[in-house]
Amino acid sequence: MRRVFVKKTKKPVSNYPITKLPNYQMAKAHLNRRYRFSASHRLHSDQMSDEENSAIYGKCNNPHGHGHNYVLEVTVSGQVDKNGMVCDLVELDECVQREVVTRFDLENLNMRPEFRDSVPTTENLCTVVYDILKREFPQAHLERVRLEETMMNAFEYNEIE
Ligand code: NI
Repeated sequence: MRRVFVKKTKKPVSNYPITKLPNYQMAKAHLNRRYRFSASHRLHSDQMSDEENSAIYGKCNNPHGHGHNYVLEVTVSGQVDKNGMVCDLVELDECVQREVVTRFDLENLNMRPEFRDSVPTTENLCTVVYDILKREFPQAHLERVRLEETMMNAFEYNEIE
């Protein structure tokens, strides 16, 4: 049996490169990656009275604490390398997994040494995660750390450069 191939007419794509290749080496690209962990906290400062704590932190000051399923978004940036990447995603995943997810998952943040001197608000958790990743992942520039605490609120932190 003979097969008849019908050549489909396709709309021609635009010429690329049109004149010259864009200089990828000069451009900065961003990589966003998401991770998840769960932890509990109680917003309470030993520096203040119970009344002050209650006035400032409201229901988040309840003595039994409460938990969050955090969504962590890490943004790194840099030039696109010869392999076409900002950084090795496997290395980033390993670093965030080891240094952040494993460290805080299923933990009571109030008991962690990272919050010995500060209240584990999600703003403060952002700064802690940022500092850790800044130190532990030099392979790319750390742009931003974002933590979703609930569906309704999220916090972002980055250094002023
Ligand atoms: Ni909370």
